Amino acid sequence: MKLAVLVSGRGSNLQALIDACAAEEFPAEIVLVLSNKAEAYGLERAKQAGIPTAVLSHKDFDDRESFDEAMSQKITEADAELVCLAGFMRLLSDGFVRKWRDKLINIHPSLLPSYKGLHVHERAIEDGARFSGCTVHFVRPAMDEGPIIIQAVVPVHPEDDADALAGRILEQEHVVYPQAVRYIAEGRVRVSAERVVITDAPIPHGAMVNPVG
Ligand code: GRF
Repeated sequence: MKLAVLVSGRGSNLQALIDACAAEEFPAEIVLVLSNKAEAYGLERAKQAGIPTAVLSHKDFDDRESFDEAMSQKITEADAELVCLAGFMRLLSDGFVRKWRDKLINIHPSLLPSYKGLHVHERAIEDGARFSGCTVHFVRPAMDEGPIIIQAVVPVHPEDDADALAGRILEQEHVVYPQAVRYIAEGRVRVSAERVVITDAPIPHGAMVNPVG
């Protein structure tokens, strides 16, 4: 399956996808890394891996729709079949989301539907949450909404600041994003009544408790 990855910054999730795709048996390849920021380090990572890149600055467009239309064109030209948002910091127009419906996924550093938006780690710590994590989901028009494909849970430690929690979650992001892509590329993922069904996915049993009893 051919992937387009959209980034705005450091691109560590992009790197996780690049590394996963490097394995011969991995059923996907990245055909385009697209950024709205010329200075995004993700572009550097793509170049080092020999992946075609494109930069489209949203500042060069009159409105969100025409910017998104230009992105769609690049993605289509590259022949991509799945679009992966990986730290892409622009809201997407309804038209773009509709065009790529069920072919557009995002990773978010919280256990959705909790903590949508920004400053998620600060908010989880402030609330005294005992667990947080990350979510890979299909994108719908509302921000950080859409059918959940996979989540990973991590404990929040009493001494955590936002950076410590972000780091613990990021490690799991790098595991679950390639895993979600793999499931999709293997044709095992479908959306039914706005819930994701994955064929033959191993299901964990039991519960996690924090603090441990
Ligand atoms: C990640 O935490 C991701 O969940 C969020 O933005 C961050 C991007 O990090 N959407 P990176 O650019 O992949 O390193």
